[in-house]
Amino acid sequence: MTTRSLSLGLAATFAAATIPLVAGCPANSPSSSSTPVATVTGYKLIAPSTAMVGDAVQLQVQEVLSTGATASLPSNATITWNGAPTMLASSPAWLYNNVPARVSALSGNVANTTLLATDSAPTGFFVSNPARALPDPTILPALADTLFISGDPASASATPVVVSATIGGTGVTAGTTASASISITAGPSTVSTSNGGTVYAANCAMCHGATGDGAGTAAPNAPGLNNLSPGGSPNLAADPGWNAPLLAFAARADVDNTGSRLYLAGGTAPMPFWLTQNAAGGGYLTTQDYYDMYAWLKTQNN
Ligand code: HEC
Repeated sequence: MTTRSLSLGLAATFAAATIPLVAGCPANSPSSSSTPVATVTGYKLIAPSTAMVGDAVQLQVQEVLSTGATASLPSNATITWNGAPTMLASSPAWLYNNVPARVSALSGNVANTTLLATDSAPTGFFVSNPARALPDPTILPALADTLFISGDPASASATPVVVSATIGGTGVTAGTTASASISITAGPSTVSTSNGGTVYAANCAMCHGATGDGAGTAAPNAPGLNNLSPGGSPNLAADPGWNAPLLAFAARADVDNTGSRLYLAGGTAPMPFWLTQNAAGGGYLTTQDYYDMYAWLKTQNN
């Protein structure tokens, strides 16, 4: 593959010969006539150094400039993620057709069932959910640039997840990579059922019911989330196939604990996309909020 260096070449030309011409351009404006115009010297992956089980980690690639400052990637740059598998959320149509293999669709080498097991060693993965291909790419954070951490909330991972981004597109040094290492810690050591009940009442009860029984008036299709098993079929908190990190994952990725897409089945009041939707009162729901809600749902037995 040919490595392109369009932006580097152009910037170097400006720096060497045309500073007076770009002096009025805000993006390249030098602070004094002796300051060279910044060139792109590389790329940097911005990521937290640690994440807990249940987190949705926002990854961001930035240009590193010759001044040491960083800048956003050009809007037409593309990023390909490596170092963690990508789960392709399966189609809910499969569910409705009663096709049992709905958990098997994925790209990457780790089965959805392993990534979504409640007792597996914590690990990171990306999600491709075509039901959440946002029409407006300026709505952030983007699902494609989000690393989900699932697994046993009582465990830390012995090895960090090392993710890398390969930059592509025009206006960049295509083929360049930038990587980051993220250590995975266990879930929070304490939970608050009180906060969980409050957050749930404000954001979920209208669809999933005041006690999590699924009897909310806003969405007739919303399933029960509490600790009961109506008709012998367990609701979320009574189902050993769910845990707090998976509740956080499902709400943010709009994918259930079997890898099947949510949202489309919602009819007139579909499951909101909590990765980008603000909670009541503003701000995103935190991973602690989801742990708290799961603990509260566990207390809902009637
Ligand atoms: C506007 C209505 C609405 C609100 C508000 C809402 N949901 Fe949902 N939720 C739905 C619907 C509808 C579904 C079923 C979607 C489907 O099957 O495609 C669903 C499904 C789910 C599932 C999958 C459960 C399963 O057993 O497969 C989880 C988990 C969930 N919601 C969590 C939440 C949480 C947590 C909140 C609050 C932070 C919330 N929801 C708020 C409508 C809503």
